[in-house]
Amino acid sequence: MNLRLDKYLADFTELTRSQAKKEIREGRVQVNGETAKTGNDKVAFSDSILWDGREIRGQQYQYIMLNKPAGIVSSTADDRDETVVEYIRKHFPVGMESVLEHSQTPTFLAKDLFPVGRLDKDTEGLLILTNDGELAHRLLSPRHHVAKKYFVQLDKDLNTTDVEKMRDGVDIGEKRLTSPAVLEILAPREAFLTITEGKFHQVKRMFAKLGKAVTYLKRVEMGTLVLDESLAVGEWRFLAEEEIQNLASSG
Ligand code: URA
Repeated sequence: MNLRLDKYLADFTELTRSQAKKEIREGRVQVNGETAKTGNDKVAFSDSILWDGREIRGQQYQYIMLNKPAGIVSSTADDRDETVVEYIRKHFPVGMESVLEHSQTPTFLAKDLFPVGRLDKDTEGLLILTNDGELAHRLLSPRHHVAKKYFVQLDKDLNTTDVEKMRDGVDIGEKRLTSPAVLEILAPREAFLTITEGKFHQVKRMFAKLGKAVTYLKRVEMGTLVLDESLAVGEWRFLAEEEIQNLASSG
C-alpha cells in the first residue's frame, strides 16, 4: 500500500498535514536515505522514513490490549471522565523503550484508535483498542456471537441452580431472554460468566435478576484473545501478529 509522504507523517507522528509538508520542504525528512522534496511522494510501509534523523515506523492498523483500570470510560471523548484512548496515550506501556527497537513496533500511536465495545467505568480487564473498523465490527456484531468471559465477585453466595438459570436464559427486560451463558462457580461468591452478547450492563443485570449484586467485574477473554496475566491493571501492549490473526477468525 502506498501513501503520500505528508499523509504518512501526519498519520504516524504528532505533526499535522501542513506541518509535515513544511518539514519536508525544509529538507528534514529522508526516504530510503534520500532527502525528500515534496509531500506528494508516494511511500510504502516497507520504506525507511526518517524525520530529523528519527525513524518513523507506521502501520496501517494497530491493535492494543489494555488491562483497563476502574475509573476510566470506554470511549474516545468524554466531557467528564478520562477515556481509555486518552489513558493509553498518557501511559506508555511497560518496556516500550526496548520494544521500540523491534522493527514491527510502530513509533507512534495511530490517531484514530477506538475501543472495541464498552466496559463500564468500574469494570476492569481486557479491552481491545484498534483503528481497524472491520475487525471491530466482526467482534461486536451480534451475528458472530463472539464469547466474552468475565470474572465476577458477588455480594451473596451462588448456588447450582444459578448455573441452570444462566444456561437457560435470563429475563433482563429485553425482547428476548439472554442467550445461553456459562457460569463456572469458583468460590461461594466468585465465578466466571461467559456470554455471547453485549447488552448494556449485561453481566450486572443478569446477576441482579438472580438476586445478587456484582461487587467486582473483570473481563478476562474476548473471542480467542485472553488477557495477558503479565499486564498489571492499567498496563497495555500491542497484540502479537498471531493474536491478531486468531481474533479475526473469532465467532
Ligand atoms: N457487563 C456489565 O455489566 N458490565 C461490563 O462492563 C461488561 C459487561
